[in-house]
Amino acid sequence: MTADTLSLPIDIQQTTSPRVQDVDFTNLVFGRNISDHMFVAEYRDGQWQQLRIVPYGDLSLSPATAALHYGQAIFEGMKAYKNEDNEVLLFRPHDNWKRFNRSAERMCMPTVPEEVFMNGLTELMRLDAEWVPCAPGCSLYIRPYMFAADAYLGVRPSESYLFVIFTSPVGTYYANPLKVKVETDYIRAAAGGVGAAKCAGNYAASLYPARLAQQAGYDQLIWTDARDHVFVEESGTMNVMFMLDGKLVTPAVSDTILDGITRKSIVEIARHWGISVEERKVSIREVIEALKEGRLQAAFGAGTAVVVSPFSVIAYEGVDYHLPAVEEDSFVTKVKNYLTDLRTGKIADTFGWVLKA
Ligand code: COI
Repeated sequence: MTADTLSLPIDIQQTTSPRVQDVDFTNLVFGRNISDHMFVAEYRDGQWQQLRIVPYGDLSLSPATAALHYGQAIFEGMKAYKNEDNEVLLFRPHDNWKRFNRSAERMCMPTVPEEVFMNGLTELMRLDAEWVPCAPGCSLYIRPYMFAADAYLGVRPSESYLFVIFTSPVGTYYANPLKVKVETDYIRAAAGGVGAAKCAGNYAASLYPARLAQQAGYDQLIWTDARDHVFVEESGTMNVMFMLDGKLVTPAVSDTILDGITRKSIVEIARHWGISVEERKVSIREVIEALKEGRLQAAFGAGTAVVVSPFSVIAYEGVDYHLPAVEEDSFVTKVKNYLTDLRTGKIADTFGWVLKA
């Protein structure tokens, strides 16, 4: 079958052995189950071609594949939900597409046309709609990614690429509030580097410092600026936000901070609610002082995978500072519920963020 009304038709080969019935939707662990199909497009000779949806399965790659050596690889994370009429809803997918292409430009890769990204995504949603969970806290995590496919050992931008989208039904990423340690030795990103790009290497580089923190009893790190370790940047794979003196305060995006879609949604919702928002440099000392003086109502991570994840402890210079428990009427709880209600169509989407797949 072909979705051939498109200018770049997608060849569709449906699986003959669907696995959806085998999945325990009451116990979804993040990243464990992968849905039946994947979308694949190839970039060769300067153009995107061979668009197809095929049963999810292994890719066959040369051991010399450039991405495996030099890390020319980028990805996105996005989510789909179901509304009460069983329709599949995507949350701000065009923002993911635009950010994907910004990452592509930074990593010297070809951009993916809107038609390829969006049609691949929506066709995949149509085929795998049964994989979108309905239970509270669950969603279908969508992973678009692209990597350098040349089998070539010289260091240069690849001439061929693979763009793939696959999906995974997921539950909660972090079950409990996080104990986070402020990192002042290692760095995530430096000015002029690739911190704002969603490239594979950023995540690889974070693993060792995160493991050290976990061995010391923490869940994640708060990254600080590479030069002086004075300003807060991100936490783990999330943007960081604070409710400080009743205002929403968050590090401004820059070339070291990812332009998070959950982050910017929360900023827009807070403004819509009349809450004052400050996007600026936030020093870790300011946060700790506010915490000590009882002026820090909450600190939390925001991201597609985690949605909103409150911190229970911030460790800085060897001291564990405890945050107040998150109450039902707090901003953190309200914004998390509001986002969920928007994404599942329970409340009217006055922002224009939700797209029926
Ligand atoms: C996301 O929130 O989508 C992320 O990119 C985090 C992911 C690496 C699990």
